[in-house]
Amino acid sequence: MSPFQITRTLPEDATDAALRADVLQGLTATPKTLPPKWFYDAHGSELFERITELPEYYPTRAEREILVDRAGEIAAATRARTLVELGSGSSEKTRHVIDALTDLDTYVPVDVSESALTGAGRALIAERPGLNVHALIADFTAPLTLPDTPGPRLVAFLGGTIGNLLPEERAAFLGSVRALLSPGDALLLGTDLVKDEEVLVRAYDDAAGVTAAFDKNVLAVVNRELGADFDPGAFDHVALWDARNEWIEMRLRSRTAQTVKLPALDLAVDFAAGEELRTEVSAKFREEGVRAELSAAGMELSHWWTDREGRFALSLSTVSLSTVR
Ligand code: SAH
Ligand code: AVI
Repeated sequence: MSPFQITRTLPEDATDAALRADVLQGLTATPKTLPPKWFYDAHGSELFERITELPEYYPTRAEREILVDRAGEIAAATRARTLVELGSGSSEKTRHVIDALTDLDTYVPVDVSESALTGAGRALIAERPGLNVHALIADFTAPLTLPDTPGPRLVAFLGGTIGNLLPEERAAFLGSVRALLSPGDALLLGTDLVKDEEVLVRAYDDAAGVTAAFDKNVLAVVNRELGADFDPGAFDHVALWDARNEWIEMRLRSRTAQTVKLPALDLAVDFAAGEELRTEVSAKFREEGVRAELSAAGMELSHWWTDREGRFALSLSTVSLSTVR
């Protein structure tokens, strides 16, 4: 077996069908929405990597700090031989865990972004001879079939990406993560924490405008894939804190009254001047809430670690024994 395999778990046209369905549903809804997974074409993945280096965007640095400090404890608690990472992106922070897991046999990065998987996979096998990397191009919100690899299995979901799911999506997602775990396996989950509104809004509306470009990239994806005629310059990037839901919302606000044509969907969408299209929620968490959501999905939180400034948390959970059949 080659140490680097990449498997597309969806038929070639499934992405296209899913994009069409999401765009049709989202742009004909009130208010208009688009799901955040469509940010991540090759350019969107590059923009996200630039975001992680911005002075205002603290989550990546905070999570890296925890991973550096706790990788040894994570390895000792899990002794994982297979590491599955959902929404793995560049896998950059994950290297700390990979290095600490001395018995690791296979790393399974799972992402919708083929360019991110290829870049990360090639770099990893060059740096870690002996490690098998089996990348999956897959949507982590759909049922996953994992390769047959040795246990114990550690499933990692880093970066706070769980916050990009709506509460009902999170519950379904955590249920499917639980189904991937057997007794002795574990979930390593990164969650960004509730904090000062000003710090949060700045993290999603940086001075250099990289997050604005990332937000607008979804329009470029829809233009390219569905032949639409969105003018990204006719929309403003908006980031706001929703205190009731405890999440950041990213939106694109139409500067003028305009009609956007989407020939592949035989659709014309009217935007009023000032009308907003929601492109992402990024929920922020508290320990009690994370514990409760995991418990509702049949998992028990065993470790809770934060960075020194208390901005971000990493938790380790195992299968609740009461749910083992
Ligand atoms: N875990 C990395 C990357 C976070 S960015 C980090 O912490 O830095 C979010 C990643 O999730 C992107 O690589 C994106 O392509 C991927 N992603 C977003 N929605 C997805 C979905 N529904 N299924 C699979 N991957 C998804
Ligand atoms: C991937 N995810 C956790 C990022 C976040 O912070 O919600 C995506 C992002 N959106 C804007 N900046 C970064």
